[in-house]
Order: sequence, then structure tokens, then C-alpha cells
Amino acid sequence: MTQARLAHRLQHLGTTVFAEMSALAVRTKSVNLGQGFPDSDGPDEIIESAVAALRSGRNQYAPGIGIPELRAAVADHQSRFYDQRFDPGSEVLITTGATEAIAASLLALIEPGDEVVALEPYYDSYAAGIAMAGGIRVPVTLRAPDFRLDTDALRTAITARTRALLINSPHNPTGTVLDDTELRCIAGLANEHDLLVITDEVYEHLTFDGHAHLPLASYDGMRDRTVTISSAGKTFSFTGWKVGWVCASAALVAAVNTAKQFLTFTSGAPLQPAVADALALPDDYFVEFRNTLQAKRDRLCSGLRELGFQVYVPQGTYFVTTDIRPLGFEDGVEFCLGLPERAGVVAIPHQVFYDHTDVGRPLVRWAFCKRDQVIDEALSRLRVGLRAR
Ligand SMILES: Cc1ncc(COP(=O)(O)O)c(C=O)c1O
Repeated sequence: MTQARLAHRLQHLGTTVFAEMSALAVRTKSVNLGQGFPDSDGPDEIIESAVAALRSGRNQYAPGIGIPELRAAVADHQSRFYDQRFDPGSEVLITTGATEAIAASLLALIEPGDEVVALEPYYDSYAAGIAMAGGIRVPVTLRAPDFRLDTDALRTAITARTRALLINSPHNPTGTVLDDTELRCIAGLANEHDLLVITDEVYEHLTFDGHAHLPLASYDGMRDRTVTISSAGKTFSFTGWKVGWVCASAALVAAVNTAKQFLTFTSGAPLQPAVADALALPDDYFVEFRNTLQAKRDRLCSGLRELGFQVYVPQGTYFVTTDIRPLGFEDGVEFCLGLPERAGVVAIPHQVFYDHTDVGRPLVRWAFCKRDQVIDEALSRLRVGLRAR
């Protein structure tokens, strides 16, 4: 979409594919396996905690950096799960979801013309955030079948103009969980070239088959050059709350907050105490949530495999990637645009997450953070719709 009045640097961004496909799902009454949101709410006790906050007058502006209880809860979470130490007073910043944290980090840390190396396929807000900051996106492609980091490609992508690496693990949409060797390589290159690293870890608790999320900030030399970003949406099934956070050195947090304070200043005042309670939930919550999602992953993967798709089983996240070519299709965009009419199901074409669109052309992403009967309904609709071809 080109709009005469839209600033040049935003011309190529269009409308986010998720909004477009979710609107298509509503219009065609399709089962929406497109956008990554769960179709059931997170824990009741956390909802009650938000209700109590609403009723007890916590309805005015929260401090711009977030309420002290939530900053302390984020610091405790990093210590409990990763043995990291962040000072809640100066090294934790609460944001309006991870999305604002990503945008504020890029706006604060990137000069116009700086290069930002990002893993491709990338979450679509990265392209937008880099563009808004006037930066130049440099993709490093994760390729099927295993979508591992090509460390040589990463090394080659770094130039004298590179300012930052924008890393996402567990990775949307491929489901790759970067392993120790890959993270060591990223840390080594960041140290060697004196780069900042912005790391999006929103799926940190959604890992399967014993794969563990390892935070980049824990690697040698990374503590003071890494901006770690996460949020409550995925971990606690409250994607609509949009409460996120940044953990970094005091200097980087101050820099990110310089941008963040003029984006939203603050948001979600009564939700912040509830998210603090969520972060303190016992280990059982995190284990059960992961096990439930792993079963859903397996349910959708085996159904898609039976239908004839080439299925790439993810190590983490909410998403499974398939190759549509075994079913006789070539182009994921065409396939996904036709799917609501053909089968009453919405999925997301990978292509929109690539600069190298050819690599993503035959790949389609499906979300499995849905009730079992919804996954089954989607599969039975696909069974009928794809056969009718
Ligand atoms: C990789 C990644 N980062 C960030 C976000 C957005 O997080 P939030 O809703 O907390 O802004 C998403 C949501 O889908 C995502 O997949």
C-alpha cells in the first residue's frame, strides 16, 4: 500500500498481516489459527488480582518506569529462572507490551543509517521499529528444515555500520530455541564488534521436549550491552493486557526510557500489580502451561502431517511451520488468502516475515494456542476443504 501523505520511511509497511488476517477470519467465520493469541484466559486468581486493583483505586497514572512491585517481581523472576541480578530501581522498565519495548529500544539506540541485523523470518514489528528509527534492516535467514542460526552468515552480515543485533529466541515464526553454541557465537560477535543486542524473549517459558531458554544477557560480556525484553502476554495468556518489560544496565534502561516516556509514558496501572502476582506464581504453573501447550503442538502437528503438509515441529513458541508444496501449492500468500473460502481456516504466510520472500514463499504458520476442540475443528475443516480442490 502506498499513501501519498505517509512518511517515506513508513511507505513499505502497510497494515500488519495479523490485523488483516484476523479481520478476514471474522468476516468469513473462519477458525483463526493465524494470530498468536490463546482462546482461553490465564489464571483466575490473576484476573481477581486485577479486579481488586481496579476496585481499590489503582486507576490513575502508574509511575512511568512501572510500579515498584512489578519491577521487583520482574527482577525476582530473572533471578529465579536464570540466576540474573537486575536492580529493580534502575535496571527494570515496565512497558506497554514487548512491542513498545522493542520500538523504544530501537528509537533510543539506533541512529539513522545504522544497520540492525535481525533473524529472518522476523516478527513484523521489527521491520517497523527499525524503519521508524531510520535504521537499515540486515536479515540473517533461518532456513528449513531445522531453522538453525547460520553463524557464518551472521558473521558476514556484520559491517562497520552495524549498531545492533536484534535477536528473538524462542523464535517466532520458526519455533527455533537458540542453543548454547549459537548464543555463544552471537555473544562472541557482539563483544568483538562492540555491538548492542536487543533480545526479544516473549516466548521464554514456551519451550518443549526439554529445550531450555537461555538468556543472552547471561553470556560473557553481554550484561551491559544487552536489552532483554519480555512480556506477560504469552506466558500468562493475557495478550490483551499489553504489559511488558525491559531488563538492562541502568544506562541502557535510562536510554530506552527516554523514548518510552514519550510513546505512552505509562499504561495498564491496575494490570501491573496483577502481573507482579503472575510472575510470582509457583513453578507448577509454568510446568503445566508448557506441558499443555506441548500437547496442543503435537495435536496440530500430527493433524497437519496426516493432511500431507511437510511439518517442521517447533522447539518453542505457539507456532508450527509447514511447507505447502507436498499438497501441490507453491505460494503461501495465495494459499492463505484462499484458505478461508476453501476451508474456513486462517493461517499466516511466512513470506511477510522475509526480505528474501522466495525463501518464505512455500511456508505457512499455524498457531496452536487454541482449545483442543478448536484445533480439531480446524483440522476437520481442512480435511474437507483441501480434498475439494
Ligand atoms: C516475537 C514477538 N515479540 C513480541 C510480540 C508482542 O508482544 P506484546 O504483545 O507483549 O507486545 C509478539 C507477539 O506475537 C511476538 O511474537
